[in-house]
Amino acid sequence: MKKYLVIGSPIEHSLSPKLHNYWLKENNIEAIYDKKKLDEKDLQSIISEVKEEKINGINVTVPFKKSVIPFLDELSPEAKDTQSVNTIYFQNGITIGHNTDIAGFELAIKYAKYDILGKKIFILGAGGVAPSIIYSLKKMKASKITISNRTKEKAENLTNLFEGLEIVDWGKTIDFDMIINATSVGLKNEDGLNFDYSANGPNKFYYDVIYNPRETIFLKRAKLFGNRTENGKMMFIYQAHQAFTIWNKLMPEIDDKVVKLIE
Ligand code: ATR
Repeated sequence: MKKYLVIGSPIEHSLSPKLHNYWLKENNIEAIYDKKKLDEKDLQSIISEVKEEKINGINVTVPFKKSVIPFLDELSPEAKDTQSVNTIYFQNGITIGHNTDIAGFELAIKYAKYDILGKKIFILGAGGVAPSIIYSLKKMKASKITISNRTKEKAENLTNLFEGLEIVDWGKTIDFDMIINATSVGLKNEDGLNFDYSANGPNKFYYDVIYNPRETIFLKRAKLFGNRTENGKMMFIYQAHQAFTIWNKLMPEIDDKVVKLIE
């Protein structure tokens, strides 16, 4: 029986097993998708299990998307450019690290029927998911990308990966068309962003990478101020969809039932 895994720390709340196991069953594939909490020191040995074909694929989540890189034989161009791996597979005798968060974000924005072309984008947060979002926004031809992070240095580090990124101090706002919460603030239903919702809008697009809770305080407030909002649910589903397709050479269906699974 094939075996797939999502690794991270913490991992308890990951919905990847639920989604992948649903698709495996729907497509009559004999496999199991599990989750495993591990430490950085365990990364090498878990990846060697992919090489030994004991594990057929791994999804990587916080905080290991970058730290798995030294243990992989090859990176896809997307993983290389973002220094971020969320999907590992074995092909022609080598382990490959790929990034499906990029396509996940792009497909989610298309699903939301929002056109990034020429838009000014403001990103809050410079953690694990930020490089994938920036890569995707550049691909969709945003006119300007500005990033703000509590720890400024982390935002500044991103300018080594991407040209033309603007950095602003944490707590300051700018003129934008779309704002993305790429921090972990809101996961616990807290309001830690101290964002001035009255300075911009109405009719801006507020996007939160978080999908659980379904509506963060960030999105709730944005809505009260007359803005459009969207959570990260479809991004999550699409990144999983891309990983599943790579591993199983089969595109599973994204229907209402799948979308409801994640709610
Ligand atoms: P990592 O920091 O390991 O990349 P992450 O979950 O991918 O983890 O990213 C967390 C993001 O949320 C970071 O941008 C973090 O800001 P710092 O770089 O300053 O830590 C941000 N974040 C988490 N808690 C925050 C808070 N209370 N206020 C503001 N930003 C916060």
